[in-house]
Amino acid sequence: MGGDHPTYWIDTWGCQMNDADSAAVARLLEGCGYVRAASAKEADLILLNTCCVRAKPEEKVYSRLGELRALKRRRPETVIAVAGCMAQKEGDSLRRRAPHIDLILGTQRLHRLPALAQQAQGTGHAETDVLLSADPAGQAPSWLGSTPIPDQPLKALVNVMQGCTNFCAYCIVPYVRGPERSRRAEEIVCEIEALTAGGCREVTLLGQNILAYGRDLSDGSDFVELLTMVNGIAGLQRIRFTTSHPRDVNDRVIEAVADLPKVCEHLHLPLQAGDDELLRRMNRGCTVEQYLGLADRLRERVPGVSLTTDLVVGFPGETEEQFERSLETYRRIRFDQAFTFAYSPREGTAAASLPGQLSRADKQSRLARLIALQNEISTAINREWVGRTVKVMVEGPSESNPDRLMGRARNNKVVILPKADLAPGALIEAHLTQGRLWGWEGEFA
Ligand code: SAH
Ligand code: SF4
Ligand code: F3S
Repeated sequence: MGGDHPTYWIDTWGCQMNDADSAAVARLLEGCGYVRAASAKEADLILLNTCCVRAKPEEKVYSRLGELRALKRRRPETVIAVAGCMAQKEGDSLRRRAPHIDLILGTQRLHRLPALAQQAQGTGHAETDVLLSADPAGQAPSWLGSTPIPDQPLKALVNVMQGCTNFCAYCIVPYVRGPERSRRAEEIVCEIEALTAGGCREVTLLGQNILAYGRDLSDGSDFVELLTMVNGIAGLQRIRFTTSHPRDVNDRVIEAVADLPKVCEHLHLPLQAGDDELLRRMNRGCTVEQYLGLADRLRERVPGVSLTTDLVVGFPGETEEQFERSLETYRRIRFDQAFTFAYSPREGTAAASLPGQLSRADKQSRLARLIALQNEISTAINREWVGRTVKVMVEGPSESNPDRLMGRARNNKVVILPKADLAPGALIEAHLTQGRLWGWEGEFA
């Protein structure tokens, strides 16, 4: 409990954008006098920052809301707020399953939380605000400044744009995050300068479709220019960015990753499927050959680059042959790591009404085959690196074994090292001794 101060608790699901929003709203609340509660049970305000990209994260939120029902009965003055993508998608209908929710805030409305929570606390006032402006110029200000990741003061997530205008056939994101809107580059740079002055050493620039940065601005700025500006910030060590759409990776982007010293050698480049017909039906605007060409150019121009991806199995109509062709493609590309998903129909998207929806069992068995293949590839790649020396930024004790130190190579892979008296942020060289599925074990070089 925070004595005289109201307390808050935040649970977050979904992507790094939600992590960034949660960190920012926490800071906003703290600016209004709130302090972080020791647990949800004790908090005056509980925020669930939600995701609806697949059915699974939604189920988790409903089950969390179920747990909170008893708490709300015991302590009716606790304010329960639901924000983020699922709040945007469901709006008031969330209350049908969870009438104990006080506040429902859409993806552009999170900045209203402190004021609405205060009002709800005093009066029991409930509100739903899921206003989503399609007009970038006309929308309410929803930028929340970036802030270091809690417990990780060295690293910060920085939203450089919001929304997505791609409309991949399976994806709900454009509907719940609205169209692409970029922040002004000067504002982003100022924010990162302030973060760096406060001790931050690594930023991850975030956008659902980050290579489209600047296209909606009239000042001619673009992503490579932004990267170049951020690269010039003194004191900053590492720059990461996500997510890149393969269709938008051109030679300028590749050269920027190759030439800008702070930009790390890692691209998260979702392919989604390894068969041209599937890719076409997903509306991805990229063929397998184009992707292979990109991967080759990247690996040639950016030595040691790691290439990670997102893959979906069981898109409507996916045949066994198409699935096998996809596996063959993944064997050829050899991703360092893949986030793999079973297709989950999302109401309102183009794919949800397509014929040929696969059974859960079929999707799960294909997913298991894909994961087995990817695990083999990831482990093999990491073993090929054994014997090499890489630069590592120390993050702190390893979570699985506090007697060892954890850090990351520039290509974002985890390196586990012997315990040593090194502060987070220390830059060291590590000699890699073991390649594992998740990264490497190493020694100080
Ligand atoms: N903007 C990013 C990622 C958005 S969502 C991009 O374009 O890559 C993260 C991942 O979730 C997607 O890359 C996709 O692999 C997966 N995904 C999105 N919708 C899905 C759905 N309906 N079912 C299963 N996976 C999905
Ligand atoms: Fe979804 Fe496609 Fe946009 Fe990514 S690019 S957020 S997968 S619509
Ligand atoms: Fe989920 Fe929204 Fe991110 S749907 S993946 S939290 S943009």
